[in-house]
Amino acid sequence: MSEIVRSATEADMPAILDIYNEAILHSTATFDIEPQTLDERLQWFRETRPPHCVIVAEEEGRVVGWGCLRGFRTKVAYRFTAEDSVYIHEEHRGRGVGTRLLAELIERAKKGGLHTLMAGVTEGNPASEALHKRFGFVEAGRDREVGYKFERWLDVVWMQLMLPPAE
Ligand SMILES: CC(C)(COP(=O)(O)OP(=O)(O)OC[C@H]1O[C@@H](n2cnc3c(N)ncnc32)[C@H](O)[C@@H]1OP(=O)(O)O)[C@@H](O)C(=O)NCCC(=O)NCCS
Repeated sequence: MSEIVRSATEADMPAILDIYNEAILHSTATFDIEPQTLDERLQWFRETRPPHCVIVAEEEGRVVGWGCLRGFRTKVAYRFTAEDSVYIHEEHRGRGVGTRLLAELIERAKKGGLHTLMAGVTEGNPASEALHKRFGFVEAGRDREVGYKFERWLDVVWMQLMLPPAE
């Protein structure tokens, strides 16, 4: 099977949107609640600037997962810190696609001169926790009951990876 991980283009936005909207509607992985429109995803993509990025995993010409680096917080002193996200199509989870995407995001973060990566993992997401631990992310804190979705309060566990200085 041919699989590649590459930078996303505008043509990938419908596939990225489908994967993200499924997660919005059926999981607590994201705190968005309403499905997004293609225009919203396009705007998000067009606003992404280095060292941030959007990447996709493609199998047999079909996007099966995507990941991104985006700013952790907007104030300028946070500029060397990014937050990662990884979303895999529900039929393609658990067979290494997330691992390949996060490996590429970490490489891009290093090349982009970032200092540290954060991942906000909603409690009760063992796959995301295992994925991040695999790359050396460690728990850095917990925001208690900051989310409310599907009629319950949700904690966010912050996982963090310190990056080596750029060569
Ligand atoms: C979380 C997610 C990105 C992981 O991607 P994936 O392709 O399914 O994961 P991989 O197959 O690469 O596996 C990564 C690790 O997670 C573990 N894992 C995968 N699915 C798991 C599950 N359901 N329960 C527990 N561990 C799981 C794997 O064993 C592997 O751990 P290891 O490296 O210690 O063996 C994917 O499941 C997903 O898209 N989930 C919905 C959206 C989401 O939660 N995104 C993360 C937001 S922070």
